[in-house]
Amino acid sequence: MTALLELKNLKTHFQRRKTTIPAVDGVDLVINKGETVALVGESGSGKSITSLSIMRLIPSPPGKIVDGEILFNGNDLVKLSDNEMCKIRGNDISMIFQEPMTSLNPVLTIGEQIIEVLMYHQKMSKNAARQKAVEMLELVGFSRAKALIDDYPHRLSGGMRQRVMIAIAMSCNPKLLIADEPTTALDVTIQAQILDLMKELSKKYDTSILLITHDLGVVSEIADRVVVMYCGQVVEEASVDDLFEEPLHPYTNGLMGSIPSLDGDVDRLYSIAGTVPPPEHFPVGCRFAPRCPHAFDRCRNEAPALQRKGSRSVRCFLHDDKEATV
Ligand SMILES: Nc1ncnc2c1ncn2[C@@H]1O[C@H](COP(=O)(O)OP(=O)(O)OP(=O)(O)O)[C@@H](O)[C@H]1O
Ligand code: SF4
Ligand SMILES: [Mg+2]
Repeated sequence: MTALLELKNLKTHFQRRKTTIPAVDGVDLVINKGETVALVGESGSGKSITSLSIMRLIPSPPGKIVDGEILFNGNDLVKLSDNEMCKIRGNDISMIFQEPMTSLNPVLTIGEQIIEVLMYHQKMSKNAARQKAVEMLELVGFSRAKALIDDYPHRLSGGMRQRVMIAIAMSCNPKLLIADEPTTALDVTIQAQILDLMKELSKKYDTSILLITHDLGVVSEIADRVVVMYCGQVVEEASVDDLFEEPLHPYTNGLMGSIPSLDGDVDRLYSIAGTVPPPEHFPVGCRFAPRCPHAFDRCRNEAPALQRKGSRSVRCFLHDDKEATV
């Protein structure tokens, strides 16, 4: 497998007066060509800041990538100029967000928004871009694309708007699509359709996907591999099959317990006690220790490293070779 994107020890910090907020604090992550990787974790764990760092869209100040590398096809995006990065965005890496209404411009028609992207990034003529826009809308499942192209976003339902966003994001045939909670705002049936569409397009065009979600049900539907984040760090990384068969990290275990079962059995609902601490109050030692049912003395004093375990990785002393031999 060839790596398309490789994050190495990525650190993105915010500065609030004299306080440093380590929102993303040493993230390692690989996305191979054609692969769909899910990034999961509770609210505030640093998922969006990781993806915005890849896009180099961190508001600066107060935010800054302070350390690490973002290797895309071997080139470090951290080192690129704003101009060079602009070419990568939209051409090689596209992003779709949770709420399509805020990302679509309400005063431009659907067509104008796709055409604009194609003319800017692909240097297409207006006519060619219009034709391609119709094709893209058909590709994401609109049967009356020719008429739709002159509609305004407010005439569309949430699911249709998200399809339009996918059409825009895919119009330049990106190598990587980052989708930040793309289906959270949609009802369950529409969510499934949008996920199917993303899966289908990624296969057809060999596009890698970084899918951010806190819904493990979504993960099992679409991802090849899962990266679990907690307090700005990766705590576990595994193939979907391995992760669902045997989660290694107590935090992943807790997240698994909180997947509602498909038969709607509420008894199985379980949530991890306590809340994610804010980055300025990350505990010393294991960041999950205050909420971990297995925490022991070492966990409160020493920070576990992310360790390789065969084809997967985990950051927990329970899986530390040193502990195992004690
Ligand atoms: N502009 C900012 N200034 C200061 N801190 C910020 C800023 N943006 C984000 N953070 C902090 O960074 C941390 C990670 O935020 P992030 O948005 O990446 O979380 P997330 O995992 O995407 O959560 P959610 O599931 O709610 O979207 C949070 O604690 C947040 O408060
Ligand atoms: S290192 Fe300790 S506190 Fe942290 S997850 Fe593992 S057992 Fe729990
Ligand atoms: Mg987020």
